[in-house]
Amino acid sequence: MTDMPTQAGDAAATHPRRVFSGVQPTGNLHLGNYLGAVKRFVEMQDEGLGETLYCMVDLHAITTWQDPAELTRSIRELAAAFMACGLDPKKSILFNQSQVAAHAELGWIFNCVARVGWLNRMTQFKEKAGKNRENASVGLYGYPVLMAADILAYQATHVPVGEDQKQHLELTRDIATKFNNDFGCPDFFPLPEPIIEGAATRVMSLRDGSKKMSKSDASDMSRINLTDDSDAIAQKIRKARTDPDPLPGSLEGLAERPEARNLVGIYAALADTTAEAVVAEYAGAQFGAFKPALADLAVEKLSPIAGRMREFLADPAEIDRILGDGAERAAAIANPIIDATYDKVGLLRSRPR
Ligand code: AMP
Ligand code: TRP
Repeated sequence: MTDMPTQAGDAAATHPRRVFSGVQPTGNLHLGNYLGAVKRFVEMQDEGLGETLYCMVDLHAITTWQDPAELTRSIRELAAAFMACGLDPKKSILFNQSQVAAHAELGWIFNCVARVGWLNRMTQFKEKAGKNRENASVGLYGYPVLMAADILAYQATHVPVGEDQKQHLELTRDIATKFNNDFGCPDFFPLPEPIIEGAATRVMSLRDGSKKMSKSDASDMSRINLTDDSDAIAQKIRKARTDPDPLPGSLEGLAERPEARNLVGIYAALADTTAEAVVAEYAGAQFGAFKPALADLAVEKLSPIAGRMREFLADPAEIDRILGDGAERAAAIANPIIDATYDKVGLLRSRPR
């Protein structure tokens, strides 16, 4: 991107620790979202090492067409899923992006900082826009700029995400660096660190080990949804594509076996252990033995989440109250940062809100 060197760890040196991440309310959460992101959100919340903000990024969701009534439902469902996974509105700020104006305000300023050449390199835009690029929304193209605004509106220092967001985090750091340079305010925006950790930062489709598990895959058998019941979870794992060989005795033996590697990674992440440990335990096992063990583990860890989600969803007014409260607390952090940003750019502050 820019030629400016960026160093991991710089944010921690310049700003107090603050964790921010976001998930799009575009339908059910799946196992990839859980293991790649939300499970880590909960751990970082419970570490208690600084504020944690978790956002439902509805403005990102509408970069592709969303049915309005369904979008509203998806926002509440995602809030329920967050809480069912262990996010606690007393410990973290849980809120909805469009309810805090700072995101859109800083997003516009960053549209004027980011360069077209930088966005042209974003692989997720190319994937999402596909062949029909001329017809993609301008919002989809600018999506990573709004993501930078989400993070930097809070001067966040740590961002837990799945592997697929790494390039967007690099862009965020480039935008922060350019803003700080252009307006002569070194260290105003931190260079946030991506936290891409765990045994399953890139969970693959259960039907095709070369594609990531995704909400948009036409086949429901390709993913485990957090709302799936025990039977569905077990059936999807039983039918997951694999090769005919037994599990190897070491990780190197998985190098050319994407489906096997994926199931081992899922097992490791669900069991809070490493892929090495799983391979050591199941060396030489056939999938006929490994899959039932994985299915039992997945049911044990995931099925209580669906039950808790239903309980939260039974009281939508309470969800709305929690999100309203979260938005107020989020705005209280972001507004002074936006005011300072306006000041640096030369825009007038003290706007009516
Ligand atoms: P999204 O649903 O695209 O908003 O993604 C929410 C979070 O889940 C992001 O941090 C993604 O990186 C993560 N994520 C999405 N799909 C996967 C996957 N297949 N494996 C691991 N992480 C994922
Ligand atoms: N782009 C992220 C995704 O699709 C979602 C997101 C939006 C996000 N804003 C963010 C993630 C800020 C982390 C921080 O998964």
